[in-house]
Amino acid sequence: MNCLTVEKSIFYIETARSCYAFSVEKGYAEHLYYGAKIPFSDIDVLKEKRSVILVNALYPADDPTYSFDCKGFEFSMPCRGDSRSASLCLVCDDIPFDFVYDGYEVNPAIDSPMPVPLKYDSAVKVSFKDMAHGSMLNLYYLVCYDCDVIIRFCEFVNNGERTEILKFASSQTDMPATNKKLTTFHGAWGRETEKREQFLTTGIYRHGSFSGMSSAECNPLFFVSDCDAGENHGEVFGFNLMYSASHEISAEVTPYGGLRIINGIQSENLRYTLEKGENFIAPCSVMTYSACGFNKASRNLHDFVRCAVSPIKEIPVMLNTWEAVYFDMNEDKMKSLADKASQCGFECLVIDDGWFGERNDDTTSLGDWYENKKKFPHGLKEISSYFNNIGLKTGIWIEPEMISENSNLYRNNPEFALKCDEIRHVVGRGQYILDMTDEKVRKHVEDSVARLAEEYGASYVKWDFNRRFADIKASKGSGYYYDYVKGLYSVLKNLNRRFPSLIIENCASGGGRFDLGMARYTACGWASDNTNPLSRAKIQQGVSYGYPLSFTLNHIAESPGHQTVRTSTLKDRINTAYLGVFGVQADITKMKEEELEFLAKAVDSYKKHRCEIMSSEVYRISAGNDGYRITQTMSRNAESGFLYLMREKFDTVTQLPVIRLRGLKKGAEYRVYGQGVDVIAYAETFENAGLVLPQNYQGAGREKDTLMITDGGTLLLRIKIKE
Ligand code: DGJ
Repeated sequence: MNCLTVEKSIFYIETARSCYAFSVEKGYAEHLYYGAKIPFSDIDVLKEKRSVILVNALYPADDPTYSFDCKGFEFSMPCRGDSRSASLCLVCDDIPFDFVYDGYEVNPAIDSPMPVPLKYDSAVKVSFKDMAHGSMLNLYYLVCYDCDVIIRFCEFVNNGERTEILKFASSQTDMPATNKKLTTFHGAWGRETEKREQFLTTGIYRHGSFSGMSSAECNPLFFVSDCDAGENHGEVFGFNLMYSASHEISAEVTPYGGLRIINGIQSENLRYTLEKGENFIAPCSVMTYSACGFNKASRNLHDFVRCAVSPIKEIPVMLNTWEAVYFDMNEDKMKSLADKASQCGFECLVIDDGWFGERNDDTTSLGDWYENKKKFPHGLKEISSYFNNIGLKTGIWIEPEMISENSNLYRNNPEFALKCDEIRHVVGRGQYILDMTDEKVRKHVEDSVARLAEEYGASYVKWDFNRRFADIKASKGSGYYYDYVKGLYSVLKNLNRRFPSLIIENCASGGGRFDLGMARYTACGWASDNTNPLSRAKIQQGVSYGYPLSFTLNHIAESPGHQTVRTSTLKDRINTAYLGVFGVQADITKMKEEELEFLAKAVDSYKKHRCEIMSSEVYRISAGNDGYRITQTMSRNAESGFLYLMREKFDTVTQLPVIRLRGLKKGAEYRVYGQGVDVIAYAETFENAGLVLPQNYQGAGREKDTLMITDGGTLLLRIKIKE
């Protein structure tokens, strides 16, 4: 597919519904447009033709009409006439860099240590040569046409003397600032991906993570949109970064009406030195455009993830042992959990933390990935065969990038740990991170995970990561994180190649590393440790802005929830976990017979519908503003879907909302049913007038068909086209 036109110094990149254009003027890469598709022939009229409007403007020596501050650029360097924040900052000798256009190459070979999309329709590399040092800056643009996604990243090739990188963002997007808001996703452990919105006004908003991880505090996903854009209307630009370490975005509104969006690795404390002949490649910045609101921008990103980052895998319905037994596990407990799991139709049992070394709490043994013989006298292989014989796959938890001081790994290889003995130690959860920049460490990590598959028969690995970085090698500053994830990605890549059918779950104290970098090598991600439906509905909706259901792992746990001490019904927990990758982490051997039957039915129903769920289109109908979280799915052929409703707070004498459905086939009749609801109507009626739910409890009086959706109550309804 041809998504690229290069003519008259203009680079015009198109996707199905958007286009992106820049031109080369005087050797600079001037950004001209990103948005809804406009014809190539008109791009020329977007060029800035006004003469200097700033009295104190800076301009190239040969053209006083060219004002740097009034133009958009594809990248910028400090102190070169553009007084906005720069996307790149490089230091070599005492001479600033001055990159001049040097040509382009269509569909270049891409050899990056960072994750790149599995597929794209076309690519272009646009090169700039530095006047002073002879070094090169290459800008890469990759196009995923159907999902309206454009990827941008930069490469620096050092042909000069030793060069220090102080900032190296992946993308810079200049656009008019009129009426724009920024939507970001913040949180903490147990309350990840909370949506925040703010209007952009003159000044710089900078946000990112500093902990060495993409982090629960600040997911790399963000949006820039019209101030009044909503789920289904308004212009929305979505951004993400395929990167798992510290990242940074900045949104700068200038006094001259421009907005500059910079997306890339964290620049604070970045000090990365390149010798002559070395290069540095930034991670992929992902950009999408929607002319009709956030739902469409999210669906573009979902399509992109499913097609080019983490393709759908059939993930077995799992029982995870963490909240069922924590560290208190042994052969008998595993077998009785497995028996019940198999009776209920589960397909996999994931043995979580506590199976190895001397691990009876979180102070010891990370690194000693050998079964604890006191807990498993017959070995983990025997347990694994037991699971397999009763129809369960074996899943095993591991935190391979970590080391406990109290471990044989540490006693034998203290140098593996990322710590500094000359100063006071900084510890997290009683453990240290392994230095993944060291080849011996990477081998240990790869071998440890490989052993789970080869010797213990694991077909599912839960890959955890439970502490942040400290005491990193000072010489690179935050550039160390880049080298760290480069090492991590190379191990994951090797494992994917060696064990193509091994399913890897991405976890980091819940959603601490829930990002597209990890998604590239893993099949699903654990979005949060918080499984209480009220909290979870919010977290899942936050996640849904950028990540598809096929990548989002949801568990049902006990009530009261361990993280919130809030009670919830089994039905509400199942309803909330259903739309995504479905599992349970609770001691099901203690459940009552009727609860087990209820659960088994849910497992059975989920198995029948999971294919549809994984590939469905998602529509957020209500995202919390009115006290509801309502999400609808629709199959690709618009014949079936689900409608999930969470009522956050109940007040007496209030009705449930009328819900306008989305994505139905015009003229078709649908039935919306289940859990006390059964309504048949035409698509137009459901979409324009909405689904009118039955009477809900009003605070007094209750008929047998009255719905009882009160605080934290949910509904999960089936939507089906009528035959
Ligand atoms: C943190 C994870 O988020 C939990 O699910 C669990 O695996 C624990 N780590 C185990 O230590």
